[in-house]
Amino acid sequence: MHQKAGTILRLFRTEADYISGERLSRELGVSRTAVWKHVSALRKVGYRIEAVPSRGYRLVSSPDIIDPHEVRAQLDSARVGQRLEYIKETASTNADAFRLAENGAVEGTVVLADSQSGGKGRRGRVWASPAGVNLYCSVVLRPSIMPHEAPQLTFLSAVAAARAIEQTTKLTPEIKWPNDLLVSGKKVAGLLNEMSAETDGINFVILGIGINLNMTLDQFPDDLRHPATSLLLESGGPVDRSRFISTLLNELDRLYADFLARGFGPVREEWQRRCTASGRKVVVSDSGTDCTGGRFIGIDSDGAMLLRSDDDILHRITCGDVRVI
Ligand code: BTN
Repeated sequence: MHQKAGTILRLFRTEADYISGERLSRELGVSRTAVWKHVSALRKVGYRIEAVPSRGYRLVSSPDIIDPHEVRAQLDSARVGQRLEYIKETASTNADAFRLAENGAVEGTVVLADSQSGGKGRRGRVWASPAGVNLYCSVVLRPSIMPHEAPQLTFLSAVAAARAIEQTTKLTPEIKWPNDLLVSGKKVAGLLNEMSAETDGINFVILGIGINLNMTLDQFPDDLRHPATSLLLESGGPVDRSRFISTLLNELDRLYADFLARGFGPVREEWQRRCTASGRKVVVSDSGTDCTGGRFIGIDSDGAMLLRSDDDILHRITCGDVRVI
């Protein structure tokens, strides 16, 4: 789609009323015939645009396709999404973003896909990535932090995803250590961060985010280790994917700017507030076997979970499944 069509969408978003053809032609710097052509192109990809002779044009509804122009039109960010690469079908947006970053992509570059044939989950698992329903994206960041501090950015993306879910649905997601987002106790989102680093610094971090937006029950694989769900299944209504994506990117941008200015503290505080286990007694198991237990105190600066056992010893846990008791 032409860039001017993106500008038309941006203008529609800022005006509740009709916009005259004359104003559109002035703002776009093109003739009224050209405005009409861009409006026709938008209609062809599913936008319903009403045209009333004496009043002008009005956006009635948008299609549920991921439209990078629409995502851009709703962005209000300084870094995240300033370069946005949309690939309809790919193997993994994390792999694409990694390649772009190795070739010098600017901080804030986002790779967005409609479907993934090899979506990567944690611990070498596969992330189910059917077309037309969900969000799969990866963001390139280049913070000046030490490699052991990189997990802080996974916590940051969990908080951004939780905020985006709250802003676009009536749901309140919970965060489960290390970084699952749950609704009604079922997983709705997963985060996979990868990095390229030297001993004394980071070249770049890739924030990989997968959120089940409009997935239906029959689209989940049969062999899921943990129960999973989607925002559609939990809220009863479909999520506008372009709007959701721009909300998420805007939140990531805000949190990242704050992280650069004030460090990990504010993210850690919000993450702990949103974490179901905070302050509660939990059991940690590894490969199905319970190995340790105690009160969940919070997270350390390297992402480790802090547990205080009944004999008052503070434990740092770096892997395992947490269950609140
Ligand atoms: C998990 O196992 O919980 C993490 C899942 C992360 C999936 C996302 S989808 C977008 C990005 N690209 C990938 O290949 N994986 C991440």
